[in-house]
Amino acid sequence: MIRHLLSGADLDAATATRILDTAAEMATVAGREVKKLPALRGRTVVNLFYEDSTRTRISFEAAAKRLSADVINFSAKGSSVAKGESLKDTALTLQAMGADAVVVRHPASGAPHRLAEWVDGSVVNAGDGTHEHPTQALLDAYTMRSRLGRLAGLSVTVVGDVLHSRVARSNVLLLSTLGAKVTLVGPPTLIPVDWATRAAAANTSGGGAAQSPDITVCYDLDAVLPTSDVVMMLRVQRERMTDSYFPSAREYARRYGLDGQRMRRLPEHAIVMHPGPMNRGMEITPEVADSARSTIVEQVTNGVSVRMAVLYLLLGGNNA
Ligand code: NCD
Repeated sequence: MIRHLLSGADLDAATATRILDTAAEMATVAGREVKKLPALRGRTVVNLFYEDSTRTRISFEAAAKRLSADVINFSAKGSSVAKGESLKDTALTLQAMGADAVVVRHPASGAPHRLAEWVDGSVVNAGDGTHEHPTQALLDAYTMRSRLGRLAGLSVTVVGDVLHSRVARSNVLLLSTLGAKVTLVGPPTLIPVDWATRAAAANTSGGGAAQSPDITVCYDLDAVLPTSDVVMMLRVQRERMTDSYFPSAREYARRYGLDGQRMRRLPEHAIVMHPGPMNRGMEITPEVADSARSTIVEQVTNGVSVRMAVLYLLLGGNNA
């Protein structure tokens, strides 16, 4: 087993599948009256959150507690970070307290990688800047597999603000490893230039560009809906936008928002995903978000099982 989970690229197909299979076992615990396993008794998990979060923070906390670990929640607000303490000094404090795992969310891309150099325990990236969010990709993969029965060969369309999305980046890496075909859709300003050029190069050479995930880029949502098994809508991340990336919210919704009419162009079995939090009415309408195709609430439930599996396996539960 790997020691840290920092990127979707840390996972080969066998390791990712092992995590998903373990998560399926963990899910059976959630159905019991006593939702607890003794697997991590006596181990300490620190949740280190430098950025706002609702579901990810609560999900990691629930996961660690269900495995009987001691959980310390640390948020930058109200700690010495507000007094200017550096990430390194905070890491040394955690180290001195004997943290077995540190779950970190940070606005700076790469912060979890630095942290991993300073602590002896396992580091789990719970979202770093616009970079990666590997446990979100795992819970998304888990949700697709449980709804559609497989990942290999699935057509997954990721729509919207790909540029600022750590969810999209981790999903592209993990889904390609697991054999799904990913299509990125959004306004050209919100598709990372390197991915757009790579996809174009792969297209003209008739094959996958060397060492790059097998992705396609398309700017027309309506064109790809009829062949999508999964549509993953992304939040428009205004807080990370330093520029004007599209003319107006209305125009964005018109071209890239998923409404009921567009949803009906999907094949009957197709599912609609969103990592949350949603901008209802912008990238997704309430009709779609609350429809039977939507897996949004299920994704949150699955998140706990997947994070239980990650903590359990990284911390060597049963000498994994
Ligand atoms: C995402 C995140 O924080 O990266 N949300 C999440 O973890 N559930 C996506 C987002 O903020 O849009």
